Amino acid sequence: MTTAPIPDIEFRGVAKRYGAVTAVSGINLTVPPAAFVALLGPSGCGKTTCLRMIGGFEQPSEGQVLIRGNDMAGTPPYRRPVNMVFQQYALFPHLDVENNVSYGLRQQRPRLSAREISLKAGEALAMVQLAGYGRRKIHELSGGQQQRVALARALVNKPAVLLLDEPLAALDKKLRTDMQIELQNLQRELGITFVLVTHDQEEALSMSDFVCVMNRGSIVQVGEPSEIYHEPADLFVADFVGKTNLLTGKVTGSSGASVDVRLADGSMISARSRGNLVAGQDISVSLRPEALRLEAPGDGALKGIVRNRIFLGSTAEYAIEVPALGTLMATSSHQAALGGLFEPGEPVAIGFADGAPLAFPADTKNGQKQRETKDVEIVS
Ligand SMILES: Nc1ncnc2c1ncn2[C@@H]1O[C@H](COP(=O)(O)OP(=O)(O)OP(=O)(O)O)[C@@H](O)[C@H]1O
Ligand SMILES: [Mg+2]
Repeated sequence: MTTAPIPDIEFRGVAKRYGAVTAVSGINLTVPPAAFVALLGPSGCGKTTCLRMIGGFEQPSEGQVLIRGNDMAGTPPYRRPVNMVFQQYALFPHLDVENNVSYGLRQQRPRLSAREISLKAGEALAMVQLAGYGRRKIHELSGGQQQRVALARALVNKPAVLLLDEPLAALDKKLRTDMQIELQNLQRELGITFVLVTHDQEEALSMSDFVCVMNRGSIVQVGEPSEIYHEPADLFVADFVGKTNLLTGKVTGSSGASVDVRLADGSMISARSRGNLVAGQDISVSLRPEALRLEAPGDGALKGIVRNRIFLGSTAEYAIEVPALGTLMATSSHQAALGGLFEPGEPVAIGFADGAPLAFPADTKNGQKQRETKDVEIVS
């Protein structure tokens, strides 16, 4: 008989309140060993709060946080097998790089020998491509290098779980992309769980094995990046993760998993239904820009006028004004572009594959609808 591996992290019915403010509630989450998980959500949704409860910097008001099967209630941060890179990674400006990295090691009791400390700090610096920088002062480093020092400092104790709170937010785009790749490689090499907090959906989708989408103190959806993108659980996720067009309409009939929809411009389309949709209900339909196909007038379901075109080399992005529906964004691949670009002012028809439109109850936008808390589990 095989037993399920003990999860690296588990939230069981966790809530955190600060006085009258409920930062998070109803959090249930299971993270398997050696996973790369992203906590993704808008500012104030509770990402840092969840991370700080794993790290031991906050205690849950309700429920339990377990690390590798052990309830962490009452366990201080320095006794937990985790380390955290903070949102504002505070390095000690008066210490050199090596001493910043080895700071935690020097606090350990029983004491480690100076040789051992220096060896471990050297290893951690090598992991983040900073071998040889040990004697530099912090102000003699670039922003990206300082970021690496913060990372090395968190890795030097060989934690079972590394918590990263927006670690790349301060870096420019090029450096961020480089660091994203390095973090991914590092996570694979070390084989430990990384929990990355970000409000950047591209970062979450590109880096992690699992994305945990949060909104207003709750977990809305947990899944692999492609699942989050292609099968969003609700309108908030569809809108927050990736670009999408949201069209208003009404359900006219349903059969199985799909519904017939009359869009606000009067056109009839079929959409996959997300949630229990009934005839007469107001809905929002999500259509990704890359799912739209521009055609000569006459063929597609929707009709509009090209307002703007942005040629990006491999793709072209169009803004298309559709009367009564607003401006739709369409991305066409190079192949489509080869067939001829559409010009601003040109009338076009818009087509899309069956199954591309997703229909959501209109009232769940921004999580206004009360959600039931449901158990979410990452299955490795
Ligand atoms: N110490 C505190 N006292 C009172 N309220 C707090 C405290 N810390 C956080 N909050 C509130 O809890 C909510 C969640 O905060 P949290 O820092 O977890 O958000 P976040 O998702 O990390 O946001 P950001 O992306 O801006 O960092 C916010 O409404 C915040 O104002
Ligand atoms: Mg935060």
